Amino acid sequence: MLSAMIPPQPFLLSAGLKRSSVESFDTYPFNLPAITGLQQIDFPRPVTFFVGENGAGKSTLLEAIAVKWGFNAEGGSRNYRFATRASHSSLHQHLSLARCYRKPRDGFFLRAESFYNLATAAEQLGAFHGLHEQSHGESFMTMLTERFTGHGLYLLDEPEAGLSPSRQMAMLVRMHDLVKTGSQFIIATHSPILMTYPGATVLIFDQDGIREGAYHETEHYLISRRFLENPARMLAELLDD
Ligand SMILES: Nc1ncnc2c1ncn2[C@@H]1O[C@H](COP(=O)(O)OP(=O)(O)OP(=O)(O)O)[C@@H](O)[C@H]1O
Ligand SMILES: [Mg+2]
Repeated sequence: MLSAMIPPQPFLLSAGLKRSSVESFDTYPFNLPAITGLQQIDFPRPVTFFVGENGAGKSTLLEAIAVKWGFNAEGGSRNYRFATRASHSSLHQHLSLARCYRKPRDGFFLRAESFYNLATAAEQLGAFHGLHEQSHGESFMTMLTERFTGHGLYLLDEPEAGLSPSRQMAMLVRMHDLVKTGSQFIIATHSPILMTYPGATVLIFDQDGIREGAYHETEHYLISRRFLENPARMLAELLDD
């Protein structure tokens, strides 16, 4: 049946910058090229990737969206309240989010550097046991397969950290299952594997701002491919021996 194949509307439809409320575009985070020119970014599909060079502003924007949505700034579900380190910017105060009438039944915000804290909080809450007895990649895969229950909004910052290439492919499989339940993912990533998820919106952050592209146009994909095709050639250029 055709209607069954049309994915439901994403929970988060767009994020806009209320530019008139910004006092100055000369200071962080408003001086980042990704934010300076920002009007609105749309999330029309179930999976969106933020891709760009280190320091481009992906985490800054993802965290602001997460805080504005109602997630704890340190990561976790809406119920997690712990060890707050006021490291997120004020950007969320200047964002407006367009939300679908459908409400998610599950949600998670994974901050890039806080998985360990999160595992501790999850254990303290009794939400999960044994995460600390697993390796970084193993514990993340456990969360993905057992804690993420579907029909959810998942904001993930560099979820590939700690995952082997084959586990990254397993993550694509698990994401696909969760998308089929109507879930939405917004993922900041450097992984040329993850960003190939079919039909995803790839938002490229660079000096000119944020633009939509295709995974095979990203530096991440092009450079990884070029390197792996012939490591010796690229190493000769890099090391100049
Ligand atoms: N509190 C802060 N004050 C000033 N500058 C900051 C602050 N936090 C981050 N920055 C700067 O803002 C820029 C964007 O940081 P952000 O963490 O959003 O980048 P990113 O795209 O997520 O990079 P990466 O791929 O390395 O995770 C960086 O240059 C960073 O040094
Ligand atoms: Mg980051």
